[in-house]
Amino acid sequence: MAMAGSAIGLGNIWRFPYMVGQYGGAVFIVVYLTACIFLSLPILLSESIIGRSTQSGTFGAMEKLAPGTAWKWLGLLTVFSPLIILSFYSVVGGWSIEYLWQSVTSGFGDDVSTLFGSFISAPWGALACHTIFLALTAIIVLAGVKSGIEKFNKVSLPVLFILIIVIMVYSLNLPGASSGVSYMLKPDFSKLTPSVVAAAMGQSFFSLSLGVGTILTYSSYMKKSDNILTTGLGSAGFDLLFALLAGFAIMPAVFAAGIEPGAGPGLIFETLPFIFAKMGAAAPVVSRIVSILFFVTIVIAALTSSISMCEVGVAYLVEEKGMSRLKATLLIFAGTWTLGTLCSLSFGPLSEVHLFGDTIFDFCDKLTSNYLMTFGSLLFVLFVGWKMDRAAVCREFTNNGTLRANSFLFGLLYFLIRYIAPVVILIIFVTSL
Ligand code: TRP
Repeated sequence: MAMAGSAIGLGNIWRFPYMVGQYGGAVFIVVYLTACIFLSLPILLSESIIGRSTQSGTFGAMEKLAPGTAWKWLGLLTVFSPLIILSFYSVVGGWSIEYLWQSVTSGFGDDVSTLFGSFISAPWGALACHTIFLALTAIIVLAGVKSGIEKFNKVSLPVLFILIIVIMVYSLNLPGASSGVSYMLKPDFSKLTPSVVAAAMGQSFFSLSLGVGTILTYSSYMKKSDNILTTGLGSAGFDLLFALLAGFAIMPAVFAAGIEPGAGPGLIFETLPFIFAKMGAAAPVVSRIVSILFFVTIVIAALTSSISMCEVGVAYLVEEKGMSRLKATLLIFAGTWTLGTLCSLSFGPLSEVHLFGDTIFDFCDKLTSNYLMTFGSLLFVLFVGWKMDRAAVCREFTNNGTLRANSFLFGLLYFLIRYIAPVVILIIFVTSL
């Protein structure tokens, strides 16, 4: 549940629908499904194999499997990457809290078209919400792996699925929803371009939390008797299912309201309040309830992901630096709060500050999504496919040969990890460069 919770997040509800809208609808979904199965799943399993076999976080794992080699830099890189992601993720998590607050206190009225712009550029509200989001993340992580992370995920994941299904059913029943459904289901292969392929793969990495040691760290807490394959398949399957549910919740509503599906990152924040406002004119109570449910869903989904990013850094400080969990969590909170604050201010007072041509927020997003995650994924598959001993990988994947289905599938998986994944990732990497 925790691994699925890490995967399911803003990536599914906020990023997936607007990527579908920007990259041609159903054709993007077809490529995305293919990438998840043949590329992302092997990467996820590679991280799991490293984490579970060493029972350590990213840095410790590299020290155990390849002591005294340059691989320790992969360990260090993956301590920092998720913290950069956490910094800007928490800003978006903060926006979700602000929208939830707006749904609870006043609902959405006539000012929706300017709401998003005025909110993200007004520093105090956005900063306060970013702080609240990060503080909630830190509190759950502080409570520990068992009583904090596991408990929170066990309750909130099933709740998330129920909420998104309720919203989807509502959305599918809006007049005009059917064009949204066919947009999601009927691929137009003339729209298939290399950038669609690169975007679909990048989205599947982001959505499955790959390449930055999150999955590795969670896997280090798995029991030796757990099944790596079914855990990975379950997480990836739930993640995929959730993305599709979110797509079917959002696209029909976008079409019903006559909104442009390729509107970009603002798609849910700028256009869904429109829908809630419209709905509110006809049925104020229903609109209020649906919008509250919707933003509660987003905040919970974002939290189950943000705690996984935070845990990577905390695990490092506790395991390698001997810090207490409290001290480690506070330190991570302070660091990510500072970087997140800069990201948040980059929509307002710091909008003129540019790093390599991008605002601070966009720079952090691009640095991690386009480069660090791809690079990290490449190194993880190379590590499992070429550096680790094949027999050791096989033992870990099959629980010492006791899992028959895993033994049967090992050859195929190993082939994907050793040959297919590195080549394909290199191609994406070069494309995005
Ligand atoms: N997968 C999460 C989402 O879809 C985000 C996430 C969690 C993540 N941990 C990560 C993204 C590590 C990249 C790397 O929202």
